[in-house]
Amino acid sequence: MQITTIVNGRSYTKDVEPRTLLVQYIRDVLGLTGTNVGCDTSSCGACTVLLNGESVKSCTVLAVQVNGQELTTIEGMATDSGLHPIQKAFQENHGLQCGYCTPGMVMAAASFLNENPNPTEREVREALEGNLCRCTGYHNIIKSVLAAANAMEGAM
Ligand code: FES
Ligand code: FES
Repeated sequence: MQITTIVNGRSYTKDVEPRTLLVQYIRDVLGLTGTNVGCDTSSCGACTVLLNGESVKSCTVLAVQVNGQELTTIEGMATDSGLHPIQKAFQENHGLQCGYCTPGMVMAAASFLNENPNPTEREVREALEGNLCRCTGYHNIIKSVLAAANAMEGAM
């Protein structure tokens, strides 16, 4: 089946099999390997991307389901003027160690902060409960998201 998607602002028309998962489409068909696969049980969140601005685990969606829709992956976050404020906050607050979970964390945080720009620590913890990290113990991830919220609020 042929599908057309807008990914990080660019239009792609590609052939996919009906069984192709969105994460396979992003990684293997489009070559955007910043989106990771961390499990086969829909539980880790490493594959999180934005679908029409809202976070989804891309291993739980079929590529054909996003025909005609808009996606943002981690590659679409930075601009010519530098890292996205969430990426910057992760960098500055040591919100990563191995980095495997980080693209998914950043995308989940982006969707969450869009809905709740001024969250409490508890709200951040709840919002990211679908994203697992094996390294950091989460503390610095939460700190990073709160710092990003402050930075983004200050920039508005
Ligand atoms: S790869 Fe683990 S939730 Fe998608
Ligand atoms: S930084 Fe290694 S899994 Fe999160």
